[in-house]
Amino acid sequence: MKYPRLRDLEMPARRRIPPFVFAYLDSGTGHDVVRQANRDYYDAITLTPRFLRGRIDADLSTSILGQRFEAPFGVAPIGLSSMIWPGAEKILASAAANHGFPYTLSTVAGDSIENVAKAGGANTWFQLYATKDRHITFDLLRRARDCGIETLVVTADVPAPSRRERMRVAGAPLGSRGNSTFTPRVIWQTAMHPGWAMRMMAMGGPKFRNMEPYRETHGHLPITSFIGQQLNGTLDWDYLEDIRAAWPGKMLLKGVLDGQDAERAVRVGVDGLVISNHGGRQLDAAPHPLERIGAIRAVVGRKLPLVVDSGIQSGLDIVKALACGADFVMIGRAFMYAVAALGKDGGEHAAAVLLEEMRDVMAQLGVESLAGLREIEISRRG
Ligand SMILES: Cc1cc2nc3c(=O)[nH]c(=O)nc-3n(C[C@H](O)[C@H](O)[C@H](O)COP(=O)(O)O)c2cc1C
Repeated sequence: MKYPRLRDLEMPARRRIPPFVFAYLDSGTGHDVVRQANRDYYDAITLTPRFLRGRIDADLSTSILGQRFEAPFGVAPIGLSSMIWPGAEKILASAAANHGFPYTLSTVAGDSIENVAKAGGANTWFQLYATKDRHITFDLLRRARDCGIETLVVTADVPAPSRRERMRVAGAPLGSRGNSTFTPRVIWQTAMHPGWAMRMMAMGGPKFRNMEPYRETHGHLPITSFIGQQLNGTLDWDYLEDIRAAWPGKMLLKGVLDGQDAERAVRVGVDGLVISNHGGRQLDAAPHPLERIGAIRAVVGRKLPLVVDSGIQSGLDIVKALACGADFVMIGRAFMYAVAALGKDGGEHAAAVLLEEMRDVMAQLGVESLAGLREIEISRRG
C-alpha cells in the first residue's frame, strides 16, 4: 500500500487538481484557525492502553438510526464533489456500499439522488440544504424517498455563505461570493491539469444534478446564481418542523454546537445530531465538536445518537472521537483527498485504510468492541 496514511494524500491531491479547486476542498474560513484547531484537538488526545487481554479481533460494527453498519463512520456531504473529482459521488457511494458504511449525498453535489442511490443502495443518506422555495425542498424529499433513502441530514450551520478567503486568493470562480466568470487565471490553472480537465469536459462541466430540474421555473438564472438565491439563511425552526413533518424516515440535524439549539432540535423531533463546525469552513472561532459533546449530552440525554465530524483523518481519530462520547463520526476532506489523488480507487483505498487503522488501534488499546472504547482513560497532551 503506497499511501498507508490518508493525510499523505493531501499533496498528491493538490498536484492533480487546479489550485482554485484544491482551495475549495481544503480551505477553512478566515485564517484557517478552526481548521487547524480541528486537527490539533485530535492530535492532543491521549488514550491509555490496557494489556494482557489476549488476542483482540476488534468488532467495528454498530447500529445507528435503526440501521446496522460495519463501521462507525460515514462520508460527510460534500457540495460540488464531482468538480473536485468527476464521478466522486459514485466512487464514494460504491465504497460505502461495499464496506457497509453510509455515504451522504449533498443537495449541491454534482450527481443526482437517483444515480447515487443506485450505487450506494441502502447506505445512501441525503443531506438537505433547505431552499427558499419550499416546493423545491419538499420535492427533493419526495425524490429521496422514492429512491429508498431512509436517512435525511438537514444542515443547520450555513446561515450565510462564508468568506473562504483562500478561495478568493486562488481565483476560484465558483462559490456563492466568488466572481462567477471563468477568468484567464482559471483557464490557465485548468490547462495545467489536463487529466482533471479532460474528465471535467467529458462530464460537460460542473453539474448540480439535484438542483438543475428546478432552475427553469425560476427565471433561467445561471445555475450558481439560482443556487445562491435558493440557499443560505432560509432554515428556521418553523421550517425545520415542516421538514420533520414531511420526512417519514430518520432525520439528523447537522452543525449543532449549542446546548439550547440541541434541546430545541429534540423537541422538533430529530432522531440525532451531527455536532460539527463544518470542518472550520463557516466561523473561524467555532469550538471543536468534542468540546461541546458533554454539554449537548447533558441536555439531550443518553439515548439520542450524537455524530461528530470536523478534523477526522484516520482510524485513530475515529477511535478518539468515540472514546470521547461520539456514537458515530463523519469524514469529509480525508475521503475527498483520496478520490482527488487516486481517482476511482480513492474510495476503496480510504475505506481500507480507515478500517485497518481502527482495528489496529483497538488491538493496541486492548478493546474488542466499540462499547469498550467508552472505558478508555482519555487525557490531553500539553
Ligand atoms: C469541500 C467541502 C464541501 C462541503 N459541502 C457541504 C455540503 O454541501 N453540505 C454540508 O452539510 N456540509 C458540507 N461540508 C461540510 C462537511 O460535510 C463536513 O462537515 C466537514 O467536511 C467535516 O470536516 P472534515 O473535512 O475535516 O472531515 C463540506 C465540506 C467540504 C470540505
